[in-house]
Amino acid sequence: MHLREASRTSVKLDVSGGVASRAYSSVSVGMSIMNRKSLSLCLYVVVAAILSGEMILETPRLILRPFREEDLDLLAPLTANPDFMRSSLGIYSREQTAAFLDKVINWQHRGPPSQFAVVHRADNRLIGYCGFLHQQVDATDEIEIAYRLDPDYWSRGLATEAVTAVRDRAFRNLKLTRVISLIHPDNLPSRRVAEKNGMKIEKKTVFRGFPTLVFVITREEWSAAHGA
Ligand SMILES: CC(C)(COP(=O)(O)OP(=O)(O)OC[C@H]1O[C@@H](n2cnc3c(N)ncnc32)[C@H](O)[C@@H]1OP(=O)(O)O)[C@@H](O)C(=O)NCCC(=O)NCCS
Repeated sequence: MHLREASRTSVKLDVSGGVASRAYSSVSVGMSIMNRKSLSLCLYVVVAAILSGEMILETPRLILRPFREEDLDLLAPLTANPDFMRSSLGIYSREQTAAFLDKVINWQHRGPPSQFAVVHRADNRLIGYCGFLHQQVDATDEIEIAYRLDPDYWSRGLATEAVTAVRDRAFRNLKLTRVISLIHPDNLPSRRVAEKNGMKIEKKTVFRGFPTLVFVITREEWSAAHGA
């Protein structure tokens, strides 16, 4: 599916800046926030992704692209950082990170939505991930939007920017009826990200043994807010 969709797209260079979450078919560059070096690096990332048939999402400050095996060296230091891994079962070893990466890449190959590598345009660094996870919550199948970012990049609105792009893709392209985020009640930054993306608490439950708030946004709510 990815390859077929990509083959129908064309590469368009848009240097006007201020691009809001455009889906994978064009190359858009906010000149005002980039220097010449980072511009060429980002162009390289985007063009390479398009030429290899990959699907990417773009926001003013981020590129969300599929993970590749060679990302292990960049991802392992992040998953070894307790702050990056907050609200999880703990840090990953390099082997555990490789297994996670394998799982994500396999999901991509099988076609269902998966996690995107989040690349910060200004310095071309891989700063985390954001994307879809298939979950069973209280015996119901759900699609979760999940995310983690490098603590050096927190509180700049970047998680919100990434989640907005993924959420819009869920409704605009994938035509999902709803998406959720599973958030520990004490995780205030993550709750705020969900709220800023129009999600509301549907219920409190226990997920994998932990108290969990189920944040939800439905397709109808998204359409009403975006006139779509
Ligand atoms: C959750 C996470 C992705 C947020 O990333 P981020 O890029 O800092 O998020 P944003 O900047 O888009 O938004 C964070 C919001 O939380 C707010 N915030 C940060 N710390 C807070 C705190 N202790 N209490 C309340 N609000 C807080 C910020 O002020 C901001 O809100 P604002 O824009 O209204 O000011 C990041 O903290 C992270 O990776 N945490 C570890 C992994 C994780 O918890 N993932 C989610 C699992 S459900």
